[in-house]
This record gives sequence, structure tokens and C-alpha cells, in this order.
Amino acid sequence: MSENLRWVYNRQYHLQENLEQGKDILQKFTVEQVNCVERFHHTYENFEKTPIHDLDALALHLGVSKIFVKDESYRFGLNAFKVLGGIYAIGKYIAKLLDQNIDELSFEQLKLPEVKEKLGDCTFISTTDGNHGRGVAWAARELGCKARIYMPAGSAEERLQNIKNEGAYAEITSMNYDETVRYTSQLAKDNGWIVIQDTMWEGYEEIPLWIMQGYTTLAKEIVDHLQEAPTHVFLQAGVGSFAGAIVAFLQQYYGQQLTFVLIEPDAANCFYESFNRGTGQFVTVGGEMQTIMAGLACGEPNPIAWDILKAYTKVSISCSEKVAATGMRVLGNPLGADNRIVAGESGAAPFGCFYELITNEDYYDLKVALQLNPKSKILFVSTEGDTDVENYRNIVWHGKYAK
Ligand SMILES: Cc1ncc(COP(=O)(O)O)c(C=O)c1O
Repeated sequence: MSENLRWVYNRQYHLQENLEQGKDILQKFTVEQVNCVERFHHTYENFEKTPIHDLDALALHLGVSKIFVKDESYRFGLNAFKVLGGIYAIGKYIAKLLDQNIDELSFEQLKLPEVKEKLGDCTFISTTDGNHGRGVAWAARELGCKARIYMPAGSAEERLQNIKNEGAYAEITSMNYDETVRYTSQLAKDNGWIVIQDTMWEGYEEIPLWIMQGYTTLAKEIVDHLQEAPTHVFLQAGVGSFAGAIVAFLQQYYGQQLTFVLIEPDAANCFYESFNRGTGQFVTVGGEMQTIMAGLACGEPNPIAWDILKAYTKVSISCSEKVAATGMRVLGNPLGADNRIVAGESGAAPFGCFYELITNEDYYDLKVALQLNPKSKILFVSTEGDTDVENYRNIVWHGKYAK
């Protein structure tokens, strides 16, 4: 029996009490709300939608009806989706400071001297595996503010450099992701800096919710593009803010039972362990959490993401490095007329899991549990491109993590 995937059926799936609890949160991701986020993003003068690829040749090869991949490597020229959340949260923060509604503001207006005067000498601070911090640093630079970005031990030098290139102070700490989050939160308190963090804890709820809402622009682009609803959506999770936001919106938009599958790396599988426990309460995992899927290396779920995901996730999968690496190679080497997708480690993991469960007989039970068949239309979001080029080439060109 291969050990590439471990999976658990969510015993909390569609339980009435979870749906009730999730309903309140879904209200924060309505179509109206998502339109408001999209409007704000569109006020950025160079805004462009990212492509969504219909991989027909691959779908035929794997025996399903459709494979859709939304390619977030094109987002704002930053190689990952994350900036959508950071910039919306910063926009909302400034709107609140100005006592204005974000609906009345544009990105360009946030750069006006009178806004700058109100903001004063402001510094945004955040913890990141690379992508979120790069987005925050980018937004701070665009708006004439400062950014201080802290990364967990083991972060790639290239990702650090990309953040520094946006003019931010950035460093790699000796702590893991969750410890670094606590460290930056303390630094912010001590120095009067503004925390722009993509996860939530007691007493710090407003900004992470705005970040989650910011992600929904990509989901809106998906539904605008697709002619019909997907049957399955495979989503990757670090703290779960991304997956929670996308599930909350898609569930409401299509108003039908999509099958959501959650993907995490073995080294940082707090959702998988929580579903495995089956009590309805989440658990945390710790330690170094070293994985090539750096964006997913988080051991503590965002509590509101958990409330959404526990209501709507059908199956939770914990995967090996090899699975993500295979996903990167397959997406980077298209069949027939399919588009090539440069998917980084965290971006390719969900597709890699799907590929493994379709092609490896050992996972026949999982395939049946998910009712994957020739009618299935599966949606993936490649959340990043080659954000660590050296590792991307080692994997895709030189076959690293093939075994
Ligand atoms: C590329 C990429 N994909 C997915 C995620 C997961 O997002 P979340 O931590 O909200 O679950 C991240 C998080 O940093 C990421 O960088």
C-alpha cells in the first residue's frame, strides 16, 4: 500500500449544527460582498484577470469530463494569488481610518497626499512563507508605507529576496510559521505597527476576514468564466483562509452540493488531523513543518475557516512531497493542445493528489468515495507559479522528489 496520500472522510460533513454555524459566516461572502471586493481590485490601473485553463486532453487521458485550472501565477505580476487579500485588507483598513466606505474608494485614491497625511508614518507587519508577505510589501510600497516581513526558519532565499525587492525590511527567523506569527504580533504591539496577517485569533478578527474576502475575486472570475458548475473542487490549505473563502462563496453561488476536497502536506496537516479526530473541534500540529509546499506549512487553522470547512469539506487529504512534485511535472508538460501551467509546490498539490488517486489503484476506495467518474468536472486553483525557481527546476527538470 502506497503512503503518498492519507485521507479521511469528514464525519462532520453537512451536519445540521455545522451548516447552521457556517451560515452566519457565509453571509460575509455573499455575491454582493464579492462584487464589492472585485470592484475595488479593478480600480488598480494595471488590474488583469488571471487565466482559467480547460485541460481537455488531460481530462480525456484521466477519464473525467473536465479539468479546469485557474492559474494565479499571473496575479499582479507577483506569481501568486495572495496579494488579492493583502491589498483589500489594507484598502479596508485605510477606508476605516478615513471614515469612508471602500465602495467609494479606488486604489489610486489611497495614494493621494491627504490620505498619506492621515496614515502618517505607518508600518505594516506580517509573517509569511513568501507569497502573502510579498503582497503586503508590494501594497505598502505602492501606497508609500513601510513593511516589515518575517519568515519561518527554512524559508527559501529567493522568496526572501523577492520581498526585499519590494522595498520591505524582511528576515528569516529561527521559528516555525505559527511561532513567527506570535512574534510579529508582539513586535507590532511594542512598536505601534499594523499587523496584516492572513490568519485569525481571539481579538484579531477584522483584518483576517478582509483578507479572506479579498481572495474571493479569483472565485468570482472562475464563476464568470465557467459555463456550468464544477462537480468537485480540490483546494489546498495552510491556515485554511483561502479554502474557507472560496468554499463560502462557491457554495452560495452555485447553491448546490459541490464536493469539496481539502489538501495539505503531511508535515503540516492540521485540518486532516482535526477531521481525523472527528470531534468537530480543530487540533493544531507543530514542530518544524518542513515541506516543499511552503505556503501550506501552517499548523494552526484559522477558526472561521475551520467553521466553514468542517461544514462543507467531504474528504481531507494529507499528501507526501512526491505528490506535489508529480502535480508540478504533469501541469508543466501538457498533452495535445492543453495549456502549459507553471505551478509551484503549493499550487500543484491539489492536482497532484487528484492525479495520484486517479492513477494509483491503491486509492480506488477514495475514488469511489468521491464519486469521481467520466462525468466529473474538477476545478483546481494553481495558487502560485515558480516562486522558488531553483526548486521548481530541480523538481520539473531534474526529477527531484520522483520517489
Ligand atoms: C501559494 C499558496 N497557496 C495556498 C496557500 C494557503 O492559504 P491559507 O494559508 O489561507 O490556507 C498559501 C498560503 O500562504 C500559498 O502561499
